[in-house]
Amino acid sequence: MSHVAIVLAAGQGTRMKSPLPKACHLVAGRPMLGWALEAVAATGPSRTLVVVGHRAELVEALLPPGVESCLQSSQLGTGHATLQAVSLLGTLDPETTVLVVPGDAPMMSAEVLSGLLSAREDSGADLAILTADLADPTGYGRVVRNPDSSVQRVVEQRDADPATLAITEVNAGFYAFAAETLVAGLAALSPDNDQGELYLTDLVGITVGSGGRVLPVSADESVVSGINTQTQLAAANTARRRAILEEWMVAGVAVTDPDRTYVDFRVELAAGVQLYPGVHLEGATVVGSGAVVGPDVFAIDATIGPGARVWYAVLRQAEVGPGCEVGPYASLRPGTVLRQGAKAGTFVELKQTVVGEDAKVPHLSYLGDAIVGAGANVGAGTITCNFDGHQKHQTRIGEGAFVGSNTMLVAPVSIGAGAVTGAGSVITKDVEDGALGLERSPQRNLPGYAAKRRARYRAAERDQPTEGH
Ligand code: UD1
Ligand code: MG
Repeated sequence: MSHVAIVLAAGQGTRMKSPLPKACHLVAGRPMLGWALEAVAATGPSRTLVVVGHRAELVEALLPPGVESCLQSSQLGTGHATLQAVSLLGTLDPETTVLVVPGDAPMMSAEVLSGLLSAREDSGADLAILTADLADPTGYGRVVRNPDSSVQRVVEQRDADPATLAITEVNAGFYAFAAETLVAGLAALSPDNDQGELYLTDLVGITVGSGGRVLPVSADESVVSGINTQTQLAAANTARRRAILEEWMVAGVAVTDPDRTYVDFRVELAAGVQLYPGVHLEGATVVGSGAVVGPDVFAIDATIGPGARVWYAVLRQAEVGPGCEVGPYASLRPGTVLRQGAKAGTFVELKQTVVGEDAKVPHLSYLGDAIVGAGANVGAGTITCNFDGHQKHQTRIGEGAFVGSNTMLVAPVSIGAGAVTGAGSVITKDVEDGALGLERSPQRNLPGYAAKRRARYRAAERDQPTEGH
């Protein structure tokens, strides 16, 4: 049977106390609405409508192609939100199922949603609702049952008396309606509650009251959690990340401490990767087989090649080739490419720089807008002076070149293949292939000077009156 889906995401999320609309908050690197939409899409709806309202443009920007948006200009409740979408759907076959889901429940799975849909369709019930038994039901609507255990109605936390509050079975906020039940129920809603809103939850009692059949489908606490507060958001992040790591571990990734490893949903890891604690992999980061990452690496939109070793480092839009070494304490900024076997060592910052095969930048360097040829060695303390205060300029270091320690390369400048620079040189002119570029004043040695200097200080100390302690 075909079904249409409505996702409710117009709310501000007042309890989040955040400037972002609730639906945009990230769970394992993905907006919570994205998680809801993925689960909905997997059930194969013929149409999906997302109700937007608070900061609608930010929420609309998250919608994948084919998903429609529907504006609820004032947030007058979940029933009102659903009504906006239903008016947009036009006339529906009365038997079509309308799946209504909240945009703030990112743990939901496609299997549970499909189960809810088929429970309604197989049983012919007018409405199937997802319920869960929670140790702490605070904040959720409670499912009130009749003595014969059939569902009677849902009562919101703020409208509940103490006896109702003691009920631990909650409304998860997911509904599969027969279209005609939904349309008739919405028409009967009234804002007769503590918030003065139109509650979608009232459709349970309305359907039962008009002789309809409501089927409760129970689900596990882990999939139904709704996010209303930052604390719940943090818990959802922990749960989603844990699930992501479990999948990677099954796929052959070694994770030393899953509680201290953070891998977002879009990241791709190969079998045989080792992740040490303190690793944060975000965006479209990809890690190749046998790479060892961490402790303490933050990488976003980065590529780490097979067999690379990266520790105590920050990588942003950087590409680390196979067998490379990065860190400890390295910062690879956007546009950095390390080719196979290259090294960016301790206290090295690279920006918009390509380091050729097997080339090494082992210690204390800044290279920006540079191209380093294969096999070159860039000595400790080397800096590309790439910015003249107005513009950025390029530095080229040829294949197999040896840049002496503490060389300042004042760009634009080029060091030839196999060339050498003397330690401490300020290089302002190109150095041709195979040449030595040296820029420093000649050293003078004064024989016996040290002894004379020492004698002078000793004499001065003897002449000083001794101070009491
Ligand atoms: C809702 C249910 C509650 C259930 C809980 C499950 C109602 C009245 N209550 O409560 O029974 O236990 O979910 O998590 O439905 N929204 C709109 N427009 C509005 C109001 C809300 O689009 O005018 C959207 C929100 O953006 C959100 C969803 O509907 O994605 C649920 O709203 P929320 O305010 O979070 O409801 P809860 O208090 O969690
Ligand atoms: Mg909620």
